[in-house]
Amino acid sequence: MAKDLSFICTACNAAHSKWSGRCDACGAWNSIEEAKPLSTGPKAKGLGVKRGRALELTDLATEQPEPPRTHSGVAELDRVLGGGLVKASALLVGGDPGIGKSTLLLQAAARFARTGLKVLYVSGEESAAQVQMRARRLELTESPVQLASETSLRDILTTLEAEAPDLVIIDSIQTMWLDSVEAAPGSVSQVRAAAHELTSFAKRRGIAVVMVGHVTKDGQIAGPRVVEHMVDTVLYFEGERGHQFRILRSHKNRFGPADEIGVFEMSGKGLIEVRNPSALFLSERGDPAPGSVVFAGIEGSRPMLCEFQALVAPSPHSQPRRTVVGWDGGRLAMILAVLESRAGLPFTGLDVYLNVAGGLRVGEPAADLAVAAALISAKEDAALPADCVVFGEISLSGALRPVAQTENRLKEASKLGFRSAITPVRAKRVGSGGVALREMRGLPEFVEGVFGAR
Ligand code: TYD
Ligand code: MG
Repeated sequence: MAKDLSFICTACNAAHSKWSGRCDACGAWNSIEEAKPLSTGPKAKGLGVKRGRALELTDLATEQPEPPRTHSGVAELDRVLGGGLVKASALLVGGDPGIGKSTLLLQAAARFARTGLKVLYVSGEESAAQVQMRARRLELTESPVQLASETSLRDILTTLEAEAPDLVIIDSIQTMWLDSVEAAPGSVSQVRAAAHELTSFAKRRGIAVVMVGHVTKDGQIAGPRVVEHMVDTVLYFEGERGHQFRILRSHKNRFGPADEIGVFEMSGKGLIEVRNPSALFLSERGDPAPGSVVFAGIEGSRPMLCEFQALVAPSPHSQPRRTVVGWDGGRLAMILAVLESRAGLPFTGLDVYLNVAGGLRVGEPAADLAVAAALISAKEDAALPADCVVFGEISLSGALRPVAQTENRLKEASKLGFRSAITPVRAKRVGSGGVALREMRGLPEFVEGVFGAR
């Protein structure tokens, strides 16, 4: 039987089995209060007669001041944060092990420390010496970041209480443990409890807390998923291990737009921000080849060009392969089906491989037409012109649907030297920035018009 720890210290959140005048966890006097369960679970007897405090109500019109933000000076990071770091907020940074989360956060910590914030970096995975070694490699040893190597959350909270930093980085939430929870570190109950303690502590004391969370390959066990709902902002650090590009993507943000991305490059001296991602994602592109199509996409608030590559080959298997990197597998199946039924292009007996170059992950339906173009181009062994971009959504009927922000897409394409674009027909005319438009109504017209002549 677990002890009934229903007395909580209001200063450090430590749980006790009985009331006492002084909390023996943090030493505060008169801070222990009985925490009665408010739930009406099967065993509880309802809320009882004790009255709560009347809430102070407000209306929808009263303007609250904007939360103060601190800029790191790294544009790619600030944009993903929604315009800087918000005081008293909780952030989660998830990603595969080894992708570069610790590197990113140590660099961010150093940047914020240089702007005058008091920054504490707590590593539960590495010793202080290991973190110092990384700091030397990143040439950050001069930054006034304070460092600790610890996994006991009770000790960490006590330290935070005493030090009162502006920003604390917890690397990682999976290594933290609370002595009041009877479960192994890394288990769902420990991770959830630790994240809850840190988040509520951050809100109460006005500290910004950043927690690192490892994503397991299946994205399941005690991964960052279990704490996503508790924090204000969820960022994911993505990328292919073999590539040097890394993308920081906001998945949820209570203080800014979601789906904003920041692009970085992993170098020998840490992460470097990439100011012109389109140029980077297209930099490995060679001469026009069958199966290669440039998509003019939008990521968050800005346009981004990237290359879709497709390979179609006769399959030796009874069940042909469909392999996708950087795009949704279900959506590929849909496009293959539409190509077959609406444009008369069957892919039966053919293996299909689809890849977004550079390790970018595209989620926009606007990429449908680029995917279809890459597939047809690979199948027919016919390359599209090198200076052509493609975008548009495909409906199940085979019709092409216009997409948002056409003008921005065309402007970016023009900036990077593209001279023509294949797009759906739009009702409204917009400036095309000098790009010649080939507007199509449906897939049959697209197949005929672009590949038919060959
Ligand atoms: P790390 O930040 O430790 O990853 P995570 O915290 O997400 O597990 O970084 C892991 C990789 O990054 C490691 O394989 C080495 C590489 N790296 C560089 O290429 N350059 C650098 O300057 C640093 C610090 C790391
Ligand atoms: Mg790490």
